[in-house]
Amino acid sequence: MKLLLLLALGLVVVVTATNRRYRIHAVNDFTQDDEDEALNDNELVISRSTFVLDDAKKLKIEPEAEKLSGQALVDYVNRRQDLWTAHVNPKFQNFDDEVKWGMLGVNHVKNSVKAKKHLSKTRLLDVQIPTHFDSREQWAQCKGIGNIRDQSSCGSCWAFGAVEAMSDRICIASNGKIQVSLSAVDLLSCCKSCGFGCNGGDPMAAWKYWVHDGIVTGSNYTTHEGCKPYPFPPCEHHSTKTHYKPCQHDLFPTPKCEKKCQNSYGDKTYAEDKYYGRVAFAIADDVEAIQKELMTNGPLEIAFEVYEDFLNYAGGIYIHQGGKLGGGHAVKLVGWGEEGGVPYWVVANSWNTDWGEDGFFRIIRGKDECGIESGVVGGLPELNRTRRQRLELDDD
Ligand SMILES: *[C@@H]1O[C@H](CO)[C@@H](O)[C@H](O)[C@H]1NC(C)=O
Ligand SMILES: *[C@@H]1O[C@H](CO)[C@@H](O)[C@H](O)[C@H]1NC(C)=O
Repeated sequence: MKLLLLLALGLVVVVTATNRRYRIHAVNDFTQDDEDEALNDNELVISRSTFVLDDAKKLKIEPEAEKLSGQALVDYVNRRQDLWTAHVNPKFQNFDDEVKWGMLGVNHVKNSVKAKKHLSKTRLLDVQIPTHFDSREQWAQCKGIGNIRDQSSCGSCWAFGAVEAMSDRICIASNGKIQVSLSAVDLLSCCKSCGFGCNGGDPMAAWKYWVHDGIVTGSNYTTHEGCKPYPFPPCEHHSTKTHYKPCQHDLFPTPKCEKKCQNSYGDKTYAEDKYYGRVAFAIADDVEAIQKELMTNGPLEIAFEVYEDFLNYAGGIYIHQGGKLGGGHAVKLVGWGEEGGVPYWVVANSWNTDWGEDGFFRIIRGKDECGIESGVVGGLPELNRTRRQRLELDDD
């Protein structure tokens, strides 16, 4: 509980620091009246028809916009720009902050200095980078790349982004011969070095755990297949759809680490069911380095800061406009493209297919939006299981 409290405080400190920075800017540049005017005018500040990335890089978040919430924030976002659309789900308005933000489970969205010492070498490749790239099309034999999962009421995004990209990379490296869905709950509950389970974790540590300890197969709550399927049901995450119940108010506790498969899984023992990574690495915080690694080896895990406006995303190319900082979130990067001169990344979220663009979202590419280009991690699978199984016996 003490750790949790410290984490919560950590977030508070970040939020306060951010507010303060902008408040100083506000005091210097505007009077209170100017600010109100700036918020209330109907000017389209960021428009598809006149979009220039270098100009977008210079735009600052209006200090008053950081304080907006709910419908006022949604109206502001939709008035100010036409790259993406915001909507509000009234059901989530009465959720308290702890719950609203609890599903965000990453404490540091940027790669550490230490992680940057092990960078993927694909950044040095001399390859042509296409304008559009989509892993789902590039490796069409790997159907799993397009799957959207659901983390439910648990801050396990860090585990989902990891096992999703690992499963894709196993399929890609094996030319479609090995199609597995690695278990989010195995990683979530058994990786002690990863952090705090449903209360958040570290993407880089997840990839290292894959190399050292391996991860078994699983599936979702509904399908219930594989060694360790996810124990929590799908739910609506800030979506206005009603297929599922809204995600419950309290986060689920982190499940206990069970080193065995569910009874109905007859095929293999827990140890036999593990898939291992050969290497884990960070990707340089550079658009081309990220693109080269993605085109060479497949989807990656990325992390970014989530502000309240992101929760209201209902399609388009996200560019941060306002609302307060809630926390860090990890997701899976699958591609990139350009729409009317606006460059974007294509990303798979783990809030089921009712959220965003059928479970995916697009976000502006090239301005490290909310830190999305500076916390990219990945790794390569170890396809020769014989070697690993022998190592495990040696350990015993
Ligand atoms: C569970 O997984 C299966 C197989 O990937 C998929 O067809 C199904 O839509 C998923 N269910 C939910 C609720 O996500
Ligand atoms: C797998 O590893 C074993 C032991 O190191 C080796 O003998 C075998 O040739 C390897 N197989 C492949 C396909 O690389």
